[in-house]
Amino acid sequence: MVNCERLSYALGAAITDIDIRGLINGDDVKSVQEIWHENHVVIIRGQSAKPQDIINFAENFGVLDNHEATPFYRMEGYPQLLEITTKPFNGRPSETRNVGRNWHSDYSYTDRPAAASMLFCVNPAPLGGDTMFCNMVKAYETLSDHMQKIVNDLYSVYDISLTEGFYERDPSEVATTKQLNPPIAHPAVRVHPSSGKRALYVSERVSHFHGMSQEESRPIIDFLCLHATKHENIYRHVWKAGDLVCWDNRTTMHVALKDFDQTKARHMLRATLIGEKSGFLV
Ligand code: OGA
Ligand code: MN
Repeated sequence: MVNCERLSYALGAAITDIDIRGLINGDDVKSVQEIWHENHVVIIRGQSAKPQDIINFAENFGVLDNHEATPFYRMEGYPQLLEITTKPFNGRPSETRNVGRNWHSDYSYTDRPAAASMLFCVNPAPLGGDTMFCNMVKAYETLSDHMQKIVNDLYSVYDISLTEGFYERDPSEVATTKQLNPPIAHPAVRVHPSSGKRALYVSERVSHFHGMSQEESRPIIDFLCLHATKHENIYRHVWKAGDLVCWDNRTTMHVALKDFDQTKARHMLRATLIGEKSGFLV
């Protein structure tokens, strides 16, 4: 039996009686999935998981991405995990110290945008470094009928170079990562294959709408991002070691706040569930 507790007005629920290292049975997987669809973000606290435990747990919910779109950020020996960390690597600043600094949905700049992500906190920032999530189903549903009709017809062009802090990373890795992920257009409204819910699919990493100029697109992108990230549409997660936070990338955006001392360790591991093939190169 899986119990849950809602965490905010718009989205987010904590699941209380689960150990992700244990074999969880089919009924429990189904219950977690239902809670997840209903609340978009699921938090499982107090876990003492090793990398392989995270992988095993995540595989209950879909196929894991090997992160070929961002090969430099994978954990050694575990391509199914990305290491999001401030810890220096081989004497160089970590290339993932600034991941997630603007509102986004994971892997939107690929042709297999992520279905979901699971982020495990090994080490939280000593103070600050929270992650915020917003509900993109609500964002869509609270648009006027006219605005819904407009966005229904749009294709968002996602550009990896709009990732905040992207050019502060290693230049040769940046060049390769850009080559692997050329700008790609996806429908600005994403339909969840299980729930059928319609969600806005626009973020701060969208350069323009396909067939429209940047000048024409900018005010609409800005409006939609502001609308989606209103206070009442957000859950803000304060990390503790052992938290596993699972989010649906089809129905949420998130942002990793940089309000913490980056000379201190903040260390997270992310598994990514592959979504449907989508989009066209522009
Ligand atoms: C991510 C991300 C959030 C964080 O892992 O996809 O955006 O808080 N990181 O580190
Ligand atoms: Mn992210």
